[in-house]
Amino acid sequence: MLHPRADPEGMSGRYAHSQSCEEERGFPDGKVFVTKFTSDRLLLFGATGDLSRRMLLPSLCALDAEGLLDPKIEIIATARSDLDDQGFRNFARESLEQFLPANRRGGMATFLNRLRYQPLDANQPEGFEALASKVGTPQEGLSIFLSTAPSLFEPTIRGLAQSGLAGERVRIGLEKPLGIDLASSKVINDAVSAAFPEERIYRIDHYLGKETVQNLLALRFANLMFEPLWNAAHIDHVQITVSETVGLESRVGYYDDSGALRDMVQNHMLQLLALVAMEPPVSYDATNVRDEKVKVLRSLRPVKTGETVTGQYRAGAIGGQAVPGYDDELGKDSDTETFVAIKAHIDNWRWQGVPFYLRTGKRLPRRTTEIIVQFRPVPHSIFPGRSAKMAPNRLVIGIQPSENITLSLMAKVPGLDRDGVALRAIPLEISMADAFAGPQRRIAYERLLLDLIEGDQTLFVRRDEVEAQWEWIDAIRAGWEEQQLEPKTYTAGSWGPSAAIALAERDGVTWHE
Ligand code: BG6
Repeated sequence: MLHPRADPEGMSGRYAHSQSCEEERGFPDGKVFVTKFTSDRLLLFGATGDLSRRMLLPSLCALDAEGLLDPKIEIIATARSDLDDQGFRNFARESLEQFLPANRRGGMATFLNRLRYQPLDANQPEGFEALASKVGTPQEGLSIFLSTAPSLFEPTIRGLAQSGLAGERVRIGLEKPLGIDLASSKVINDAVSAAFPEERIYRIDHYLGKETVQNLLALRFANLMFEPLWNAAHIDHVQITVSETVGLESRVGYYDDSGALRDMVQNHMLQLLALVAMEPPVSYDATNVRDEKVKVLRSLRPVKTGETVTGQYRAGAIGGQAVPGYDDELGKDSDTETFVAIKAHIDNWRWQGVPFYLRTGKRLPRRTTEIIVQFRPVPHSIFPGRSAKMAPNRLVIGIQPSENITLSLMAKVPGLDRDGVALRAIPLEISMADAFAGPQRRIAYERLLLDLIEGDQTLFVRRDEVEAQWEWIDAIRAGWEEQQLEPKTYTAGSWGPSAAIALAERDGVTWHE
């Protein structure tokens, strides 16, 4: 028996009385609503955009080819372009041919047949009625994926609510950017939560969809050996690097208003930091995992002057190819940072005194995302002599492009040791590709879309997390403005401004490269 939640005025949805219910959630006011159902309709906003072409359509097609989508599912695409169903299917076919490897396109014809299209200008409220008719009446429920310009968020939510597309059996996925600071993100979150309760809002951070990012939790909490050492008594510092070789790409307007701090640190890097630093959750579920992450985010100490470095690339070369500078790509001068390095601190018992060095940038020498956990030296060396120089253990977790975990251990160099025992650091290396040669490597969005359709929020970001992230980021930006900090230049193909190297070296730390 379903007990529809009291809907805000005018927002009771057309799917409020479906009979298929698996799980209900209670509210203090005694109202109950359904949280678990598998959607049999998926509505994609921004369906002709870049994310859709490169990630969403390929992910959905790949899931479908493997029988992972409900056979009943219908996908309704919408955007401003004036296309019909066939026109959109042609667009989707071209996208799949370009972005999905041929060996994953097996079921492409069936997939294309699931697609329907309705043109919509989200600023025209009357268009939503036609959209609602196109969506029709799902048997189980509807999942909506919103990947549109931030300015369209509010009119879209309003249109959805007014046309009955925000009812009890509707959940909504939100792609970034969700604001440019805490205040604007609150406006967006308020608008969304006027129509959807938090339990049906899925804020996407695609890094959480990456297999190796999820593996961080397995590494920490499915093994005994790391957790006793995972604290300030045994860890000297942590480094998180997300380096990219690409420049502005085609995102001129967006990126110049955003910059590296908002584009990469506020979301992806802080999520990585939270996963590395959090306490063990009681269980692997949305509430417990997110409760622990948000505690870390709230423990971030405000960053001081001198603990950040910003940079902007100038012309250089990457992989032997000459590339232009940021201002050349942009066509004008700008003070937007394309690189940022930060020394962060987490003020809690576990991490007191352990710096977390974060660094990300465009046009760096290679694409890599990695986390380095640098352990402290052994308390006393029993091996005398120069050849026995000890290197403290170091754990390197490679997220991309290669997924591997390397633990550097000290070992004895074979020999008769006439001048004392010789020691050297050697890597104990696990390549995930070798260890799991069978399972398919997936696009992060495959996992996230499936979780949205099936209703699992564990890998989505809760409102309190986003707000804690913005609070810390806003304070950094305010500090930059106060100091009138301008990004230092760096040559494309280098590891950023030399000040970023100095930021770590002042503490005797070398960035892992
Ligand atoms: C996006 C940023 O969120 O992440 C981009 O907006 C960045 O600027 C991208 O290039 C990086 O994602 P990935 O999965 O390629 O590391």
